[in-house]
Amino acid sequence: MSHHHPSLTDIPDLAGRYDLYGAVHKGLRKAGCELLIRLGAADFADQTECDAVLDILRGYVLLAGSHVMHEDEHIHGMLRGRGGSTDIVDEQHDDHRAAFATLEKLAADIERASPQEKPALGRRLYLAFAAYLAEDLAHMHEEETVTAPALWAGFTDEELVVLEMRIIASMPPEENMAFMRIMIPAMNPAERAALLGAMRKGAPPEIFNAVIEFAVRPGLTDRAFGDLANRLQLAA
Ligand SMILES: [Fe+2]
Repeated sequence: MSHHHPSLTDIPDLAGRYDLYGAVHKGLRKAGCELLIRLGAADFADQTECDAVLDILRGYVLLAGSHVMHEDEHIHGMLRGRGGSTDIVDEQHDDHRAAFATLEKLAADIERASPQEKPALGRRLYLAFAAYLAEDLAHMHEEETVTAPALWAGFTDEELVVLEMRIIASMPPEENMAFMRIMIPAMNPAERAALLGAMRKGAPPEIFNAVIEFAVRPGLTDRAFGDLANRLQLAA
């Protein structure tokens, strides 16, 4: 367990540099906070509700685990190769992998338990997830305030975009869609338009349209989608 305290004041400005972590971390924060609330409000004695919330938990753990792996494989080694240290974030990633295994075990315990036992086990899962999320929030803060400036010092923005493209290319389409689904509603309007505008330039129109229909539109209010369509000049 790491007890590394994030600084609330040493928060570097982007200063025009490429925000490698921004969008995906906003998505993971949103998904994690919503899941925490859901776990707290869930009636674990109700089978349908219990199944639904454990489904969401497993989907989240899959994405969070994949995200950690992507950073290990495509970012940390590259940073060390240019003289940067990744000791703190590597240790935090190890803690996260252990946490994912624990969360899965707690979920399996609930599934095996009798209806009378489930609420007490649901409370354990809720508290365990809260503790994990607290560590993940601190970890993402470390990445955005310490690791990101180290990356800016060691790499050009063009190189950082190449690292990100390698991560995107390593994922099957469903996984890219799943990340987009959590990221887009978590981003602000200008960020959404910038991300999707860049994607439109690089992707075939049918892929872009599928992302809009299946990963973007369902997660936004009509007003937010209208704003995005306007910024992107999408045909109605
Ligand atoms: Fe990370």
